[in-house]
Amino acid sequence: MSGTDRTGIAVITGGTAGVGLALARRLAERGERVVVCGRDRDRLAAADALPGIEAVRCDLSVESEVVSLTEQLRTRGGIRLLVNNAAVQFEYRLTAHDPADLLRTMDTEIGTNLAGPVKLTALALPLVLPGGLIVNVTSALALSPKRSAPLYCATKAALRSYTTALRHQLAEDERGIRVTEAVLPLVDTAMTAGRGSGKISPERAAAELLRGMDRARPVIRVGKVRALTVLHRLSPALVARLLRDG
Ligand SMILES: NC(=O)c1ccc[n+]([C@@H]2O[C@H](COP(=O)([O-])OP(=O)(O)OC[C@H]3O[C@@H](n4cnc5c(N)ncnc54)[C@H](OP(=O)(O)O)[C@@H]3O)[C@@H](O)[C@H]2O)c1
Repeated sequence: MSGTDRTGIAVITGGTAGVGLALARRLAERGERVVVCGRDRDRLAAADALPGIEAVRCDLSVESEVVSLTEQLRTRGGIRLLVNNAAVQFEYRLTAHDPADLLRTMDTEIGTNLAGPVKLTALALPLVLPGGLIVNVTSALALSPKRSAPLYCATKAALRSYTTALRHQLAEDERGIRVTEAVLPLVDTAMTAGRGSGKISPERAAAELLRGMDRARPVIRVGKVRALTVLHRLSPALVARLLRDG
């Protein structure tokens, strides 16, 4: 991606809050046409009011809404950048939870974090322009899970695996579409409200993401994730202990 090549739109799922919104703002400031999606109407309206940003309602955990989002994107011209950023994280103990609630929670988490981005990518792929970029946002918790959010960590590990395979597939495609995994550390957003320490701001996360995209990195490791990855190569057991109770 180049900061000066502005052909096509940039699509950011979950671009109405947190890291996604910070990234949408940065891209719009560069003069890009940005389309964001989310569920909450107030957040959508606030994002839509920003210059250069168009907000479209879509619940990624609902397949028909993913199809409808793709149809809307088709009318906006080609896609230069697709950032699969939206996610939810639920904390629960499997041994102390109402089973019916748990099933609903699990559907939402798998739908938003894994099935949604995978389906959106498949449907939107024909719209991605030659030389375009697909970025899937994962987490340090894809390296090793924390016990309080087992399914969140599993969806991120699965998305990591999918991203790598997609990169291998698209390396053989003549359109030259690149695929990047963006691995985030703890960021100070609604997702982490009331927990964790040493968080970075969404603006800093977005700035590092943008730098990594501009440099065409296949994997962008933000903040502490770089050191954590090196440590994980040396001692997976130590990283497992560090992240388990996070
Ligand atoms: N925050 C962290 O510490 C951290 C760490 C590692 C990785 N990450 C990853 O970074 C990404 C951004 O996280 P964040 O902290 O910025 O989250 P956030 O502040 O909670 O924002 C999440 C965004 O996703 C949207 N969203 C949630 N469920 C959706 C659904 N079913 N369909 C469509 N949009 C949906 C939300 O809007 P609505 O609620 O209105 O739909 C919102 O715009 C995620 O992939 C997350 O896993 C975050």
